Amino acid sequence: MTDGQLDPKPTPLPNGRGDLVVVADAEALAREAADRFARLTSEAVAERGTAAVALSGGSTPRRMGELLATAEYRDRVPWERLEVFWGDERWVPESDPESNAGVARRTFLDQTPIASRQIHTFATEGIEPELSAIAYGARLRTIIGPADPAAGVPRLDLVLLGMGDDGHTASLFPGTAALGEESDLVVANPVPKLDAVRLTFSAPLINNARQVIFLIGGAAKAETLAAVLGGPEQPTKLPSQMIRPTDGRLTWLVDRAAAAQLRR
Ligand code: 6PG
Repeated sequence: MTDGQLDPKPTPLPNGRGDLVVVADAEALAREAADRFARLTSEAVAERGTAAVALSGGSTPRRMGELLATAEYRDRVPWERLEVFWGDERWVPESDPESNAGVARRTFLDQTPIASRQIHTFATEGIEPELSAIAYGARLRTIIGPADPAAGVPRLDLVLLGMGDDGHTASLFPGTAALGEESDLVVANPVPKLDAVRLTFSAPLINNARQVIFLIGGAAKAETLAAVLGGPEQPTKLPSQMIRPTDGRLTWLVDRAAAAQLRR
């Protein structure tokens, strides 16, 4: 199946910002995301024998995860060939309700046939955040290997992202140090507004992926999405604008409520 046959159809965005796909509501968003997750991971496995994916945190992807664990989707995903990472993580134990990895395991991964050795979580206990970030970057290199040995940046097959109403994505928050990271793959990023440290992929790592999909839903995101996609370039204020895959596909998968302020 090609994108052209997908319904809803993608709309190319101006200034190379990728494609926009608008669906009716939260449930349609989750189903479209689950469909793409199944299709893209299957294509990656067919082409390269494995699929390296990075999940995002937050609430939006939860329903997608629930769907992936249902009989309707479970057999459409090549779980036995998947390598699962997270684009960011909170500095909490996996048992914490705030843990992105903990939520994903409890929401769907534990109900799928994926083996625990294929689930790569951040170490968030008994280690300093900076060392955990370095270790995670090394794990990415070991499991995925650099697409271009000279560049040394691992190339994920699929990175799922959310967007906060302040324009952050992963844990690349406005005005934070991680926005300037150009060489490290993963960093520990102090986020003053949260009074917390977050672990996050750097923009160069995300931008080296084959497929990047933003999953954005709800009216609360409408103003920010319009600013990100249609407003002036201001990536330090709107870090979601930093996401421009160098040799990959970028899709903004949004529901009607989040798309309400986009210019036609
Ligand atoms: C996180 C996420 C973060 C999230 C956005 C949107 O760890 O919180 O990675 O970037 O995707 O904050 O979150 P919602 O889906 O809950 O709106």
